[in-house]
Amino acid sequence: MKYTVITGASSGIGYETALAFAARGKNLIIVARRLERLEELKSKIQEINSDLDVVIRTSDLSVTEQAYTLYNDLKEYKIETWINNAGLGESSFVADQNLDKVEPMLRVNIESLTILSTLFVRDYADVEGTQLINVSSALGYVIAVGSVAYSASKYYVSAFTEGLAKELELKGAKIKAKVLAPALTETEFVKNSMGIEEFDYKANLPMYHTAKQMADFMLEVYDSNAVVGIVDQNYEFKLTEKIYPILESL
Ligand SMILES: NC(=O)c1ccc[n+]([C@@H]2O[C@H](COP(=O)([O-])OP(=O)(O)OC[C@H]3O[C@@H](n4cnc5c(N)ncnc54)[C@H](OP(=O)(O)O)[C@@H]3O)[C@@H](O)[C@H]2O)c1
Repeated sequence: MKYTVITGASSGIGYETALAFAARGKNLIIVARRLERLEELKSKIQEINSDLDVVIRTSDLSVTEQAYTLYNDLKEYKIETWINNAGLGESSFVADQNLDKVEPMLRVNIESLTILSTLFVRDYADVEGTQLINVSSALGYVIAVGSVAYSASKYYVSAFTEGLAKELELKGAKIKAKVLAPALTETEFVKNSMGIEEFDYKANLPMYHTAKQMADFMLEVYDSNAVVGIVDQNYEFKLTEKIYPILESL
């Protein structure tokens, strides 16, 4: 039995990605803090396909020790794909930003993602067919004034994952490392970033994708040999080779 791990599966892109991988017949390990949401997702998947195994793990990835615990607790499973999707934003100017929100954001977006990517690649580098997909953002390729810390955290995700993909290629490793870089997508992300109760995408934004569309783009990344799947300024999804320049040796 092989499994697809999805962090941040309790809502938005992670939730729809779990459904999309389930529709492909993949067993799942779904991770987030909100247990009841994960249980609801598990029931939904099992109504669609009762043959699939869906494992629930609750983890607070803003506590970096919990990233180690999560990984170690999954050692008994054979993992085919690991998707680091959990992430959060903070929208304010740097001088005004709430550091109580910024610190956990950096720990989830950067530290836990790095720990989980490293441990997965270490164990699975030579396993044919394995993939690591890290969810960055279009703002990991263009700096967003008013969300600079978030944007910089996604620059890290993109640079780290593109660099890792190059290292794996140079080593002739069998595992692939890839980036999905969504632009505005209708999820809980904006309301959580802005600290508001609700956000009406249709009323406030001329263009955005649904989480289901983004899950379809995730599958396109999964199916392709490209390193990056990115939504461009016209809201078109493109698969491309590495975007950042890379220095191969010192
Ligand atoms: N929506 C957009 O416009 C957009 C654009 C570009 C990139 N992205 C990226 O897409 C990814 C998914 O976000 P989304 O849009 O689907 O937002 P979302 O609906 O808010 O989902 C975020 C997910 O991350 C999980 N998460 C947050 N903090 C966590 C923590 N401390 N520990 C464990 N899990 C945590 C949440 O689960 P719990 O709260 O249950 O823990 C939830 O499942 C993020 O990396 C985000 O940066 C989103």
